Amino acid sequence: MILGVRGKMKNITCIEDLRQLARRKVPRAFFDYAEAGSYSEETLRANRTDIEKIKLRQRVLVNVATRDTSTTILGEKMSLPLALGPVAMTGLEHGNGEILACRAAHNAGIPFTMSTLSICSIEDVAAAVKKPFWFQLYVMKDRGFVRSLIERAAAAKCSALVLTVDLQVLGQRHIDIKNGLSVPPALKIKNLINMGTKPGWVFSVLSGKHWTFGNLHGHVKGMEDVKSLAQWVGSQFDESLNWKDVEWVRNIWPGKLVIKGILDVEDAKLAVKTGAAALVVSNHGGRQLDGAPSSISILPKVADAVGSEIEVMFDGGIRTGQDVLRALALGARSCLIGRAYIFGLGAAGEAGVAKAIDIIQKELDVSMALTGVKRINEIGRHILVQ
Ligand SMILES: Cc1cc2nc3c(=O)[nH]c(=O)nc-3n(C[C@H](O)[C@H](O)[C@H](O)COP(=O)(O)O)c2cc1C
Repeated sequence: MILGVRGKMKNITCIEDLRQLARRKVPRAFFDYAEAGSYSEETLRANRTDIEKIKLRQRVLVNVATRDTSTTILGEKMSLPLALGPVAMTGLEHGNGEILACRAAHNAGIPFTMSTLSICSIEDVAAAVKKPFWFQLYVMKDRGFVRSLIERAAAAKCSALVLTVDLQVLGQRHIDIKNGLSVPPALKIKNLINMGTKPGWVFSVLSGKHWTFGNLHGHVKGMEDVKSLAQWVGSQFDESLNWKDVEWVRNIWPGKLVIKGILDVEDAKLAVKTGAAALVVSNHGGRQLDGAPSSISILPKVADAVGSEIEVMFDGGIRTGQDVLRALALGARSCLIGRAYIFGLGAAGEAGVAKAIDIIQKELDVSMALTGVKRINEIGRHILVQ
């Protein structure tokens, strides 16, 4: 089994290879769920096309013999300017997916973020890993439940709370409706048959800790099965969410706060006022407001406006180490990835996530050398073709 994974890993040279493998291994409905964007997917596409337009400056005859990709994120030393971002239902891409991804991140020396809507619970992951992880929070209508979630994250010694602010209403993903991944879930017969053709996935998911939202199951009264929990989640996104709620969260959460989902300079300035340690320039991977600009096009504006007052992080469309380098050059201090590691997870579990991180690390290292920089803090706009 291990030899099999190793053998397969040898021929994996880029994130696209992991994506192809995940497509074969993960049931169609869950692969589509991870890959899709909202509505016409304009913003999803722009995240990639705009990153590719940014050109790196090739420099030669610079001594780059001693390079180092390590940096600090939220004051902690990390091996890379990279974190695994929150992805709902990670544990349905591969059984125990949150635990496996967290272990791979920790072994690589980078942070892992667990989604509120994960399959494993906060407590499951805390019991299975040796270091603290970050917890992502959706503020739902039931503030009593939200308070208890924050308290559970604190009790599990989560080292940062990532408050996502770009999902008070849900953008529609057409493919999820077509596949029956809707509220309530009603998987189509064709999807159930398709699952039967993925025995590795079936085995991993059936042996996982949960098959439903682990953080909610047993904590929301009267909601014990997948259908009623999904309905509860669907009814709980709070359209009234506003900056006062951020203050409320800050008063309950004792640790570092990260505000995720900023795509506008005015909002970035308001985020600074909350006293948060960091913000993430993000459009939720093109899954929310379709027609919004790519996150890379907004990053330099936000970094220029608030980069000296708050740690600016970035996500959206990162598939290579070159992409990380581009984002750092435009003012990000670190990057989050979503799909890049989810493809790794679907392809080969923990080994696949480790491979995704390793690929990005090596690409970043080589690209730093070829642009003539040795350390993360030397990266700036001078490495871009203006
Ligand atoms: C399948 C999927 C589920 C996601 N679930 C969450 C979530 O629960 N909470 C959250 O803040 N962001 C969520 N995101 C957004 C990611 O954290 C991140 O912003 C996005 O994936 C970055 O774009 P990328 O996938 O191109 O790297 C999700 C993204 C994907 C692809």
